[in-house]
Amino acid sequence: MMIKTRITELLGIEHPIVQGGMMAVGTADLAAAVSNAGGLGIITALTQVTPADLAKEIRRCRSMTNKPFGVNLTLLPTINPVPYDEYVQVIIDEGVKVVETAGRSPEQYMAAFNEAGIKVIHKCTSVRHALKAESIGCAAVSVDGFECAGHPGEDDVPNMVLLPCAASKLNIPMLASGGIGDGRGLAAALALGADGVNMGTRFVATVEAPVHDNVKQKMVDSTELDTALIFRSLKNTARIFRNQVAKEVLEIEGRDGQTDFADLQPLVSGVRGRERVLQEGDTDDGVWTAGLVMGLIYDIPSCEVLISRMMSEAESIIAQRLSGMLLESA
Ligand SMILES: Cc1cc2nc3c(=O)[nH]c(=O)nc-3n(C[C@H](O)[C@H](O)[C@H](O)COP(=O)(O)O)c2cc1C
Repeated sequence: MMIKTRITELLGIEHPIVQGGMMAVGTADLAAAVSNAGGLGIITALTQVTPADLAKEIRRCRSMTNKPFGVNLTLLPTINPVPYDEYVQVIIDEGVKVVETAGRSPEQYMAAFNEAGIKVIHKCTSVRHALKAESIGCAAVSVDGFECAGHPGEDDVPNMVLLPCAASKLNIPMLASGGIGDGRGLAAALALGADGVNMGTRFVATVEAPVHDNVKQKMVDSTELDTALIFRSLKNTARIFRNQVAKEVLEIEGRDGQTDFADLQPLVSGVRGRERVLQEGDTDDGVWTAGLVMGLIYDIPSCEVLISRMMSEAESIIAQRLSGMLLESA
């Protein structure tokens, strides 16, 4: 059996499963593994230090898969300015066909993407932003509920409500994002009106994710209670792993008066998280992004095993468990 949806049709993929952009994790290795397993893998543009590095990474991905894959372009304020126009040009020149945008509206790049025949999936955390994405010509949206790793926004609406709210207003296909890690989540997302799922955290705990084994094992050992919401005081909330550094950040944010980002900066440095945690494997010595779905992570499979297991689980829920509950009314 197979599950065919508007997302599998739109993206030309076998299974309605997308791997969301992940800073320092979304390299060609992971993206190719997800695409080879029948999902859509996504390379994270800004993990590549320069636009020229991104061009090389796209080619490296192409050498590992002949299936479709995409590129994530995260449009967030940064301390050092990012040459976004150059990254966009590389994406176009390298013939990428799907882009996941996030952070803010991709409006200024839509004309260029459309002209190049690139399908834009905009990832956002509210119905209003999803409708805006539809109105500017995005091909699909990823709707990130409050459960998600990374930036859940400030509305705090979990997917059980957010997805059906968005589905009843949108015409374009929608991916459910945040809190999904198995076939139960996939079947539920489809029932709530989504056309597929986007996953981040679950893909970090796979064989092919380019992070230290300690990080993967920490995810297996942790539960849905092990995340923290930092930067609430700055209205730029981020869901991360609740370790010692996260607790220090929360303690500073909890002090009286306005939080000064300068006090947090040494603790939350992206470089520190990437080097000390993701590469060297000290899961307590920096901030790292993780979602509630850790409560559903029990192993470290290959992407192929993970995706095929999710598909057969979702198929059997739909074909057996749910349809078995239907009775002819008397
Ligand atoms: C380690 C990690 C890094 C992430 N980095 C980014 C990023 O750079 N840009 C982005 O748009 N989303 C990023 N995300 C969010 C994911 O793309 C996805 O939206 C989110 O993880 C979905 O929630 P889930 O983790 O519950 O599956 C990241 C997530 C993780 C786990």
